[in-house]
Order: sequence, then C-alpha cells, then structure tokens
Amino acid sequence: MILVTGGAGFIGANFVLDWLAGSDEPVINLDKLTYAGNLDTLKSLDGDGRHLFVRGDIGDRELLGRLLTEHAPRAVINFAAESHVDRSIHGPGDFIHTNVVGTFNLLESVRAYWNDLAADEKEAFRFLHVSTDEVYGTLEASDPPFAETNRYEPNSPYSASKAASDHLVRAWHHTYGLPVLTTNCSNNYGPYHFPEKLIPLVILNALAGKSLPIYGDGQQIRDWLYVKDHCAAIRRVLEAGRLGETYNVGGWNEKANVDVVNTICSLLDELRPRVDGKGYAEQITYVTDRPGHDRRYAIDATKLSQELGWKPAETFESGIRKTVGWYLANQDWIQNVTSGAYREWVSTQYGV
Ligand code: NAD
Ligand code: TYD
Repeated sequence: MILVTGGAGFIGANFVLDWLAGSDEPVINLDKLTYAGNLDTLKSLDGDGRHLFVRGDIGDRELLGRLLTEHAPRAVINFAAESHVDRSIHGPGDFIHTNVVGTFNLLESVRAYWNDLAADEKEAFRFLHVSTDEVYGTLEASDPPFAETNRYEPNSPYSASKAASDHLVRAWHHTYGLPVLTTNCSNNYGPYHFPEKLIPLVILNALAGKSLPIYGDGQQIRDWLYVKDHCAAIRRVLEAGRLGETYNVGGWNEKANVDVVNTICSLLDELRPRVDGKGYAEQITYVTDRPGHDRRYAIDATKLSQELGWKPAETFESGIRKTVGWYLANQDWIQNVTSGAYREWVSTQYGV
C-alpha cells in the first residue's frame, strides 16, 4: 500500500480518487483537515476497504511511527501543506509549522521506518515530495521557463516555506540515503479546487453575481496544469523517476490572469447565461495588487517528457471547459466547502 498525506485537499484527493480508479493498491490517507481539507471530496470512497482515512498532522511523529509500522507502505507521497499565497501573507506561521517543521518531522518518521526495512523493501521504498514552481521565484516576459537547474529564489512566505521543505528532502537523500523524488509543478486547476484560488473563485463569484477580483493589472502569467495530468505525472515519477531527482511538471499553458478570467466568463455565457442577457465579464473588478506578486511562472517540463514519457492530456481550452462544467454540476460540494471558514476568509481578504 501507499501512504498519502494531505489527501483531503485539492490535488491529494484527486490523486487518491484517480489512484483507486486505476489500481487496487490500498491508500492510507493522512490529513489534518484544515479549512482546505474536505472529506466530501472523498465521499465516493465511503465503505471502500482500499481507503483508510486518518485525521492527523504530518508533524505527529508518534502517529506516523504507528501508521508506518502497522501498514508498512511501499511509498509515502507528501501533498500536505499550507498552500495559499494570500493566506501566507496574512499569517506565515502556519506555513512554517506545516511546510517546514511538519516536513522535517515527517522525514524523520519515514527515515526511522525505512532504516528498519528489509534490504529489498528498503531499496523499493520511495518518498515523493510534491512541491511548486514558485520556489524558483519570478520570470521576466523574455526569460526561458523554469528548468530543474534554476536557482531557488522564493518571494512569498508560502514559496519560501516550500523551498525550505524541498531542501530538507534533498538533504535527507544526500545525507541519509533516503530514496526521495521531488516534483515541482505549476498552477493546478480542475475539480474539487477550494474557491480561495483564482479559477474556482471566479466561477463561483460569477454565478453568485459578485465581482470578479483581478489583482493589479491582471497581466501576471501562470502556467496552468489540469490536476488529473498532474496526478498522472506523479504516478509516473513514483514508478520510474530516478532517485534524488527533481522533475518539473507543467501544462505548457501560459496565460495572463485577465485572459483566464475572460475565458471563464465566455464559457459561463455559453453554458449558464446571465438572466439579464449581459456578459459575466461585466463583473470584472480590478483590485489592489498582492504584495510581492510574482509576475510570471512557466515550467519547462522537457525532462519529465524525455526521461519518463509524460505529457499533459489536456490543453487549457479542454481543461477549463471540463472544470467550469464540473462546478456547474457539483453545487452540493460547493455549498459544503463555502461554509463558515470560507466566508471568514473572503471577508479578511476582500473586505466583503
Ligand atoms: P490544499 O491546500 O488544497 O490541500 C492541502 C491539504 O493538506 C489539506 O487537505 C489540509 O487539510 C492538509 N494539511 C495541511 N496541513 C497539514 C498537516 N500539518 N498535516 C496533515 N495534513 C495537513 O493544497 P493543494 O492545492 O492540494 O496542494 C497540494 C500540494 O501541492 C501542496 O504541497 C502544494 O504546495 C503543492 N502545489 C499546489 C499547487 C496548486 O496549484 N494547487 C501548485 C504547485 C504545488
Ligand atoms: P492563485 O490561484 O492564488 O495561485 P498562485 O498565487 O499560487 O499563483 O492566483 C493565481 C493568480 O491569480 C495570481 O497571479 C494571483 C491572481 N489572483 C487574482 O488576480 N485575483 C484573485 O482573487 C486571486 C485569488 C488570485
């Protein structure tokens, strides 16, 4: 079996669902259930003996020690993190706690477990750490996309905490021989995305008749990766990645924020037109920029495609159409996640 951390969050839950759709290998899913973790996402696995959900913190060594010894997973995939840049600006403490100290404790628990494995199990074991392109800092318009060899230049408390965790993972390989793999991916989007992030926020606000907040001039660029393509990349790296290596994962889909928002508006105009006959783009509002806002992220995923044969299946056009369709069809999920904690965040961030 495998142990997944953060498997009630956006990417981790998509990973668990896709994993069990394609394999009978059981999953232990360890998640603290912060505001970003949502068991509703995993509802289709209720009563499924292949999925064991455990509520807990990656920093809890006693719990980790017990889970690892009891279930003897062949791999640990670490998705658990505080993941939202805007929240990291308001309160960086949780990011240090989970992303840095939590990853350290997780590595130590896994190292103790791995050390005691029999030789063949030790060799087969993998620790896969899921990270972000934001550790590389920001790009100018004319710069080549981020390669694995780029310097780490994190600019936000979030990206600095992820950079620190990547360094710990690297060091645990070089110093202790722990068999690690690291993936650094670009902005994900798709089903079950918590509506604090740009794409789900815009879909939900549009439908609710609220303003669509674009930070600054809206010309910041992100490289959008459909979440299921990301999950496929992680499975491939887990299966065949070279130990100690880093693989960048991206969708080859660089888009300015304003273009992303306009695309969502056009899709909604087609699929769920406004009753007054006007376009959703009328709801766009330019708001104060994010402090330290990185201008451009873009991933060069050549290494992953050449070494391991991975390529994204979705273009931005196909992926965003699926995503908008999913949000239109899954109002129950949305009702549940947009309860108390979500409303508090919206009023902190946007003052409404
Ligand atoms: P998310 O915020 O949706 O989910 C994170 C999950 O981790 C939640 O279920 C939360 O309850 C859990 N968690 C938080 N702290 C924990 C702790 N101390 N112990 C156990 N569980 C804890 O995040 P996501 O978007 O699914 O991101 C998953 C990973 O991918 C993160 O490591 C993130 O840095 C990375 N990543 C995300 C993106 C993106 O676009 N979403 C892009 C690049 C990298
Ligand atoms: P986000 O989804 O928060 O991801 P990240 O900051 O990790 O890239 O934001 C994506 C882009 O959209 C980023 O440039 C910030 C911008 N943005 C807005 O313009 N308005 C918003 O309300 C949000 C949440 C983000």
